[in-house]
Amino acid sequence: MQDLPQGKFITLEGGEGVGKSTNLRFITQWLDEQGISYIQTREPGGTPLAEQLRSLLLEKRDERVDPTAELLMVFAARAQHLNQVIKPALAQGKWVVCDRFTDATYAYQGGGRGLDWALIAQLEQTVQGDLRPDSVLLLDVDPEIGLQRAASTGAADRFESEQMDFFRKVRAAYRKRAEGNPECYQLIDASVPLEEVQQSLAAALQQIAGGS
Ligand SMILES: Nc1ncnc2c1ncn2[C@@H]1O[C@H](COP(=O)(O)OP(=O)(O)OP(=O)(O)O)[C@@H](O)[C@H]1O
Ligand SMILES: [Mg+2]
Repeated sequence: MQDLPQGKFITLEGGEGVGKSTNLRFITQWLDEQGISYIQTREPGGTPLAEQLRSLLLEKRDERVDPTAELLMVFAARAQHLNQVIKPALAQGKWVVCDRFTDATYAYQGGGRGLDWALIAQLEQTVQGDLRPDSVLLLDVDPEIGLQRAASTGAADRFESEQMDFFRKVRAAYRKRAEGNPECYQLIDASVPLEEVQQSLAAALQQIAGGS
């Protein structure tokens, strides 16, 4: 085995319409400019099976989805994605840039659905072992603004069809995660114009690339 340094594992987080997909393009452009090799992926999803689980999770349905069933589907997709895609890329020295990861589970299934964070932490340990993102870029904006932005990008999925109270809980949970571990999180104000958000992201990336 070659002595390659592990790549950095960066996740982009935040509620509906905060600008994750838009800024992911900015991040990959930045990585291209630096000559850093990377893969870009997303959760839930990132492999054919995990993408099928994503469709099942996002699809609107008449049947109420049990929160624990939802949680287990998220982690089933994650186990597949981690082992097939993320770990091999990191082992090859590539950066992994992922649109949502386990913080989204703490925010949506924990904050939004009300599941105990301790249960999520157990599954996190089982599925991920000690693997955690090197840095979480958390885009933060009032969900009213985020949903207005998201409305312009297509029909609402099962999560986007929730009530405002759900999105407020999601935002609060994300912020609590960031406050609990400030050295791993970059809390980025996403209410400001895109160019300003991207200045903050560039500064954060510089710091991550410069760190060991
Ligand atoms: N800082 C910003 N100011 C104004 N508009 C923005 C900003 N950031 C993103 N947008 C716009 O908001 C819309 C939603 O952005 P985007 O799809 O990137 O969000 P997202 O976080 O990926 O959403 P989702 O959670 O639905 O995947 C897009 O039309 C995008 O151009
Ligand atoms: Mg998106």
